[in-house]
Parts: sequence; structure tokens; C-alpha cells
Amino acid sequence: MHTVSKTSPSTSSFASRSKTHLPANTEQSVNAVGTIRGTTPDVYPAINRYKLSRSIRLYVITKHRFGRLLVESLHKWIVEDAKTTHRPAEVEAHSQIPAMGFYAKFGYTIEGAQFDDAGEPHQNMVVHLPIPN
Ligand SMILES: CC(C)(COP(=O)(O)OP(=O)(O)OC[C@H]1O[C@@H](n2cnc3c(N)ncnc32)[C@H](O)[C@@H]1OP(=O)(O)O)[C@@H](O)C(=O)NCCC(=O)NCCS
Repeated sequence: MHTVSKTSPSTSSFASRSKTHLPANTEQSVNAVGTIRGTTPDVYPAINRYKLSRSIRLYVITKHRFGRLLVESLHKWIVEDAKTTHRPAEVEAHSQIPAMGFYAKFGYTIEGAQFDDAGEPHQNMVVHLPIPN
């Protein structure tokens, strides 16, 4: 069973961890598999956007929709905040190169040139989330 729990809810940041309990007879028997962090534009005024950061780190298990679960829960939090504060739900993420296709699944597009972060090439990616009435 997949679950997502907020670990540090506040007005300006969001952190979430996904957990699962796989059947005992599977080889993949970890139960804490991923985390995600998001912040409002107040936290990084220079970019004036929501930010997906401290991105997802999945331990052992991938391709089981944990990444999707985390990104969608963060996007939901962002859309609710954007609706309340009357600001655009524009989000940026600094993606490692192999993860770019993952973010693209959620509508993120490339912005600017690749850059180095702690010795790893990264790409800024941005999405503008629709805010329902
Ligand atoms: C990238 C990562 C977060 C994806 O998480 P995941 O749980 O495997 O992804 P999901 O199972 O939720 O996949 C959601 C969708 O994205 C696709 N996807 C996942 N990883 C992808 C990748 N690297 N490139 C392209 N598409 C990818 C899946 O096929 C799936 O597509 P679908 O919904 O059309 O079937 C995970 O592989 C990971 O943590 N990698 C190592 C750390 C890392 O790179 N973190 C991101 C740092 S910026």
C-alpha cells in the first residue's frame, strides 16, 4: 500500500515522504522510499516561484509510481496555496539530467542552459500549473 504523509507542513514549505509495504515475498522490502520538498515564492524571492527542491530520493525502489505520488501531492499543495494567495502556480525544479524525462511527464519544460551543481550537471525545468476555479 502506498501512503504519502506531510512531514513538516507550514505556510511556506512542504515536505512529504512516501512509504509502502510490499508483499513479504518480494525482494524489495524497504518501506521508506521517497521524499520531496517544496517552497513558496516567499522562500526564494529572487526567483519568485514555487520550488521543487531537495528532490525525490527513492531508495531501492523505482518505477512504482512513488515519484508520481510525491510530485502530485506537492503540486496539489502548490495549487491550493496559489489559489489562496492569488499568485501564479509556477514551479521550478533543478533536475539531474537522467531525471528530466520524469519531470517532463508532469509538464515541466527546459529553461536555460545546463549548469553544474555539486559536480553534477543539472537543468532548470519549469511548469505553470492550472488553477481550477
Ligand atoms: C526520477 C525518479 C524520481 C522517478 O521516480 P519513480 O518512482 O521511478 O517514477 P514513477 O514510477 O512515479 O514514474 C512516473 C512516470 O515517469 C516516468 N519516469 C520515471 N523516471 C523517468 C526517467 N528517469 N525518465 C523518463 N521518464 C521517467 C515513468 O515511466 C512514469 O511514466 P507513466 O506515468 O507515463 O507510466 C527516481 O527514478 C529517482 O529517484 N531516481 C534517482 C534520484 C533522482 O534522480 N532524483 C531526482 C533528482 S532531480
